[in-house]
Amino acid sequence: MYKELAVALGLGTLVALVFLKKRKGVLKAHDGWWGVGACPQGPEDDSIRPFKVETTSEEIEDLHRRLDQTRSFPSLEDSQFNYGFNSKYLEKLVSYWRNDFNWRKQVDKLNKYPHFKTKIEGIDIHYVHVKPKSLAEGTRAVPLMMVHGWPGSFYEFYGIIPLLMEPSSPDDITFEIICPSIPGYGFSEAPHKKGFDGVCAAHIFNKLMKRLGFNQYYVQGGDWGSLITTNMAQLEPNAVKGLHINFAPPGKAGLLMMLSILFGRRFPKLFGFTEHDVKRLFPTMEKLVVDAIRETGYMHIQSTKPDTAGRGLNDSPVGLAAYILEKFSTWTDPEFKNLEDGGLERKFSLDDLLTNVMIYWTSRSIISSMRFYKENFSKGLNQPHAKLPVYVPSGVASFPNELMHSPKSWVTQKYHKLKTYTPMARGGHFAAMEEPQLLAEDTSVSTRDKHDSK
Ligand SMILES: *[C@@H]1O[C@H](CO)[C@@H](O)[C@H](O)[C@H]1NC(C)=O
Repeated sequence: MYKELAVALGLGTLVALVFLKKRKGVLKAHDGWWGVGACPQGPEDDSIRPFKVETTSEEIEDLHRRLDQTRSFPSLEDSQFNYGFNSKYLEKLVSYWRNDFNWRKQVDKLNKYPHFKTKIEGIDIHYVHVKPKSLAEGTRAVPLMMVHGWPGSFYEFYGIIPLLMEPSSPDDITFEIICPSIPGYGFSEAPHKKGFDGVCAAHIFNKLMKRLGFNQYYVQGGDWGSLITTNMAQLEPNAVKGLHINFAPPGKAGLLMMLSILFGRRFPKLFGFTEHDVKRLFPTMEKLVVDAIRETGYMHIQSTKPDTAGRGLNDSPVGLAAYILEKFSTWTDPEFKNLEDGGLERKFSLDDLLTNVMIYWTSRSIISSMRFYKENFSKGLNQPHAKLPVYVPSGVASFPNELMHSPKSWVTQKYHKLKTYTPMARGGHFAAMEEPQLLAEDTSVSTRDKHDSK
């Protein structure tokens, strides 16, 4: 009796193992329909339309009226950015926005690169597509898609695009760059149906690259962009030649990760932990809990009832700027919350920060951008893509002030062909905007690596 049970159990395990092995491999996605109402019959309109960012006097006057009508509210004394965006500095920002910021000029800057829109799965997808002007004899530009996150936009890449397109050394790769707006962000249409998550975005972006005529290409991303580009690599490992991310949240907790959490502090070498790894991974229990509560409130709101909180931000440019730019302060350097001005101008210009806010404001996309969190978390953690490794050659740039830190030994658990893992000299969450030179170099190096090894 026991013997039979044992044999049955053994066989069962074997079958399960074979089955699990089989299931490994490629992630599958179904075509979606995210447009209004039912999916129409017949082929999709796959035309590509040039697009220009535009503005009108009415739009600017409406903004100014709302800025003039803001009701200020004093921050507590000596609170800096610890209670959220400091009101004294907010008054300064609003005054700059109202009197000095020139949206028309920024619109021209946005239009410096060619924009396009094309319909995929029922919604308009917006993207910037930049080709290098001149190429050396016999060389080809390498297509690279760069995907932004929240609360960023395609504009985050405006500083890095020229660096990747006009490399300083002749050995460097020249890229042709495509920066889409995630559906529901900026000038991409928001999905009209529930359930649009990272895999759905990845499926659409892979289709976009095919539509542009690329059978093989590279992808790069931070924040949601890192999830989406990772999903792109999982969906189409033959099309995505290489992946570079500057955000690698700890993946599924496997045995090695568990052991490294338990013993990594005492035996860092055993798990390949650097000093920086130990510092980042093992803060005091108090810091761990306090930081988690203090810095993730926005995530809780956006993952549960985005439409309620979002409505206020959709009406008030000042509220929207405070909500978005507080992240550009704290996510650039956690110590910036102890500064009166949130350190915002240490790494960014007000023109760049406000341009990013204006992309959300004029496209009315804050609510739909927040919904991406809801769709992400409501599906639970046990998603097929979360369990699936990535088999595409990958590079990870690990910036010291990134929100979540994953040591190399964790990253290799998920990214099986990790080619480069670079502890970066400085920088935080908005790497493309904050440290374009460093990010461009690492993207280029990790891609060249993959090129040569082919
Ligand atoms: C949500 O995002 C996290 C972090 O990127 C990821 O680990 C998880 O798999 C995502 N869930 C879904 C349903 O995409």
